[in-house]
Amino acid sequence: MNIQALLSEQVSQALVAAGAPNGTDPQVRQSAKAQFGDYQANGVMAAAKKLGLAPRQLAETVVKHLALEGIVAKTEIAGPGFINLFLDPQWLAQQTERALNAPKLGITPVTQQTIVVDYSAPNVAKEMHVGHLRSTIIGDAAVRTLEFLGHKVIRANHVGDWGTQFGMLIAHLEDVQKDTSGELVLPDLEAFYREAKLRYDEDAAFAERARHYVVKLQGGDVYFRELWSKLVDVTMTQNQLTYDRLNVTLTKKDVMGESLYNAMLPEIVADLKAKGLAVESEGATVVFLDEFKNKEGEPMGVIVQKKDGGYLYTTTDIACAKYRYETLGANRVLYYIDSRQHQHLMQAWTIVRKAGYVPESVSLEHHMFGMMLGKDGKPFKTRAGGTIKLADLLDEAYERALTLIAGKNPDMDQDELRELARVVSIGAVKYADLSKSRTTDYVFDWDNMLAFEGNTAPYMQYAYTRVASIFKRANLDKAALTQPVVLNDGKETALATRLMQFEETITTVAREGTPHVMCAYLYDLAGLFSSFYEHCPILNADSDAVRQSRLKLALLTAETLKQGLGTLGIETVDKM
Ligand code: ARG
Repeated sequence: MNIQALLSEQVSQALVAAGAPNGTDPQVRQSAKAQFGDYQANGVMAAAKKLGLAPRQLAETVVKHLALEGIVAKTEIAGPGFINLFLDPQWLAQQTERALNAPKLGITPVTQQTIVVDYSAPNVAKEMHVGHLRSTIIGDAAVRTLEFLGHKVIRANHVGDWGTQFGMLIAHLEDVQKDTSGELVLPDLEAFYREAKLRYDEDAAFAERARHYVVKLQGGDVYFRELWSKLVDVTMTQNQLTYDRLNVTLTKKDVMGESLYNAMLPEIVADLKAKGLAVESEGATVVFLDEFKNKEGEPMGVIVQKKDGGYLYTTTDIACAKYRYETLGANRVLYYIDSRQHQHLMQAWTIVRKAGYVPESVSLEHHMFGMMLGKDGKPFKTRAGGTIKLADLLDEAYERALTLIAGKNPDMDQDELRELARVVSIGAVKYADLSKSRTTDYVFDWDNMLAFEGNTAPYMQYAYTRVASIFKRANLDKAALTQPVVLNDGKETALATRLMQFEETITTVAREGTPHVMCAYLYDLAGLFSSFYEHCPILNADSDAVRQSRLKLALLTAETLKQGLGTLGIETVDKM
């Protein structure tokens, strides 16, 4: 049930009946304060202005036309013409009941779209760094959310697997591994890359050989393709360990690296020229865009092919957008890439639209995010200034969680302790990132993320366990709850109202790619449950009917917490 959508629809119709033009925005929102009802319609003022009517008078006519009997118990006109809507507890009770018995918490089936999600995108022969961590975690939450709603999601791991660096990597590989015919063993990829780069910069003969290899590789030489493919594979095997550990749904099948678009690049450049979009400029092929200005205030030139014939990151992203529409059949493409690449993407997509490669009906969305900072407000690095390896980061999270949980549960069984530390530590690293608005920089802070109080993973995981345990203590199964949900107490109604806002929340997350909205919702829900629980005895309720009704509320809360956390990729446990 999407209450916001239902009320919007009804207020819209009433506005039209009251004389407003079709399509007038009713501006229905959840009210910030209980005294303004559960929802408010704020669209009357703007509509009245257009119609030249007194807003309160229009509000009265709209209220007369509202067909919300049985859904809204009371409407009030407030201030200059706000309409406050108070939901009917009986209707809410019925909806709660429905949600409890329906699959997926009773959400309305969606019109299925094909949505490509570009995320993670590490680079070959390099460790994944913290920027890839943000993209991986946030992108995977978006993927899970969209799949939960019923969309067809295509995960696109745009791995950096192409470019001139492969010449030096292959040359170095030949030197360090005498036999390159078998399986590659490169335990320290980062060091391998660094050594190759050093030799390339300092050894002229090596650099010459590396350049020769690039030409061979790009020409499709079987031997070089083979070594290249092994380098990609060894990198992705290592990254897979991180994905699995993080409970991220990416697999090797999802790799759609930069190399995939390589064959498309010559045609694209030729086509851009034929369409008059690209021109020769100082030997390179350039698209000049009026939409972007350089320092001199002139149209900015975006190079699509270099003087030496090489293609660029932008050329690849042009081809990639085209491919996602034409070949994958995307209705929407979401890119989880840091905000520093915004201009790059906007330029690529401006060219894509001008060339007609992707129609306007297909949305290309940059779901950007800020940097990950250390507690000192500087980019997150090791003390020596190096990049932090993800594996080390997760090891530290685990050790910290283990100490913390063992301190709280001195008698806990060792296996249980370890499993709990795993779930809490991974949850903490992910939730800390997911719970903050992605567009801003994010400060990585161990103490905050592992706190058992506040909007953190341990708190939310604990909240779930606690609610679920109430139901377990009742020693009943769902089928034994035969009495209907009744909402007599304000705390019960407040909880039920929030439970019924799950669909609104997940719809927002799916539209905007903002998992923090789900985190905030779940955190609020857990708080409302706590005050309901303090105020309304469940197992010791006055009558069996009340007990059953409250157990149903507890059950739906537990389910909502679990499924909501599930859409974020955060695991829960039954005992904590
Ligand atoms: N590999 C790139 C990086 O590490 C990110 C790629 C993002 N996706 C894209 N379609 N450009 O910065």
